[in-house]
Amino acid sequence: MYQIPLPAKYQNLSPAEASAIIRQCRDQLGSRLVILGHHYQRDEIIEQSDFIGDSLKLSQIAAAQKDAEFIVFCGVHFMAESADILSSGDQKVLLPDMTAGCSMADMADLDQVEQCWATLREHLGDDKTVIPVTYVNSTAAIKAFCGRHDGLCCTSSNCREVLASLWGHSPDAIILFLPDQHLGRNTAYQMGVPLDAMCLWDPYESDGGLVPSVLRRSRVILWDGFCSVHQGFTVEQIARVRAEDPTVRVIVHPECPFDVVQQADASGSTGYIVKAIEDSSPGTHWRVGTEMNLVNRLKDQMAEKGIQVQSLSDCPCLCETMYRIDLNHLAWLLAMLVAYVDSAGTSPLHNQIIVPDGIKQDAVKALNRMLNIG
Ligand code: 13P
Ligand code: SF4
Repeated sequence: MYQIPLPAKYQNLSPAEASAIIRQCRDQLGSRLVILGHHYQRDEIIEQSDFIGDSLKLSQIAAAQKDAEFIVFCGVHFMAESADILSSGDQKVLLPDMTAGCSMADMADLDQVEQCWATLREHLGDDKTVIPVTYVNSTAAIKAFCGRHDGLCCTSSNCREVLASLWGHSPDAIILFLPDQHLGRNTAYQMGVPLDAMCLWDPYESDGGLVPSVLRRSRVILWDGFCSVHQGFTVEQIARVRAEDPTVRVIVHPECPFDVVQQADASGSTGYIVKAIEDSSPGTHWRVGTEMNLVNRLKDQMAEKGIQVQSLSDCPCLCETMYRIDLNHLAWLLAMLVAYVDSAGTSPLHNQIIVPDGIKQDAVKALNRMLNIG
C-alpha cells in the first residue's frame, strides 16, 4: 500500500500543534466527519476518536454511520476495508496511513485460498460440506471468497456464536477457518472439538501438507496464519508471573497460542478483556496477554480503582502497524479533507479505501451474515 510522503509542514509538528490542526478541521467538518479508533491505537489517537472499540464493535458502528460523509478509520487496512464495504456508496472511508496493514491478513492470499478450496473439493468430494469462515482480520478478497461459498466472517468476540450457528444448521460441516489458526483452534476446542479433529493447512506445502484421510476426519481445517504480536506470549511467562504472585489473574486474547489460552484464567476479545478488567474488584492483579497500547492504557485507568494491570510479557508487545497512525498523519488527513471540501471536490483526496464493487458485493454477504448472528 502506498503512502505519499507527508508534506514537510506535517512531519515535524509538536503534539500540541497537531492537536490544534485536528481541532480546527473537526470544527469545520462537523457532523460530516466521524473518527473510529481501535483499542490498540496510541492514547493520543484514542483521545481524538468519536468511537472506540474492538473489531466487532467498530464494524457495527461503521455500519450504523448513515450520516457522516467521511469515516476516518484509526486502525489497520482490513478494518477500513470492512467499513467501506458496510458503508453506503456516498460515504468515503479513509485510513490516515496507508502502510498500516496487518501481517496476519497478508498470510492468506486469494490464489492460495482458491488452490486450497480446489484441493479440498477434490479430496473430500460432494458428500462432505465445507464452509469457509474468515476472521475479519483478512483482506476484502478473502471475505468475498467466503461470501461466494456460503461462508461468513467472524471476529474474536463472536467466533463461538458463528461456529455454533453453522454447526446448528449443518452438524457435519467441515469448517475451513481463515487466517488465524489460534482463534480457530482455541474456539473450536472450547466448543468441544478435540485437537485431533483439527488439522493445519500450510499454504506453502503441496496439498497443504495434509493427506486426504486427515482432511476427511477433521471438523476444522485451520489456515496456518497467526498474529505476530499475540503469538509471542508463552506458558513460561504465565508460570513466571504465577510464581511471583500466586493471586495474579492472567487474561489473554484468543489469538494467543493454545497452551497459553489453556493456562490463562480467562481469554476473550479485546472488548472482553477491557470489560473483565473494568468489572474486577479493587485489589485484583492482572497480567494481560494482548497489545501494549491497550494494556498501558488500562494500567493507567485502573490504577485509581486499585486494580493492578501489567503485561504478561516483559518485552514490548506492540502492533507496529497500528502504531503507524499518529497525530501528524491524522492532522494531515483532516487538513486534506477540509481542502477537498472547500474546493468542492477538486483538490486531491488521498488515502481513501475503495473496495472494488465486484469484491464488495460478495464480501458484504459474509459480513452481514456475521452481523446478523451478533
Ligand atoms: P479484536 O479487536 O477482535 O479483539 O481483534 C484484535 C486484533 O488483533 C485486531 O487486529
Ligand atoms: Fe494484525 Fe495482530 Fe496487529 Fe491485530 S494485532 S492488526 S492481528 S498484527
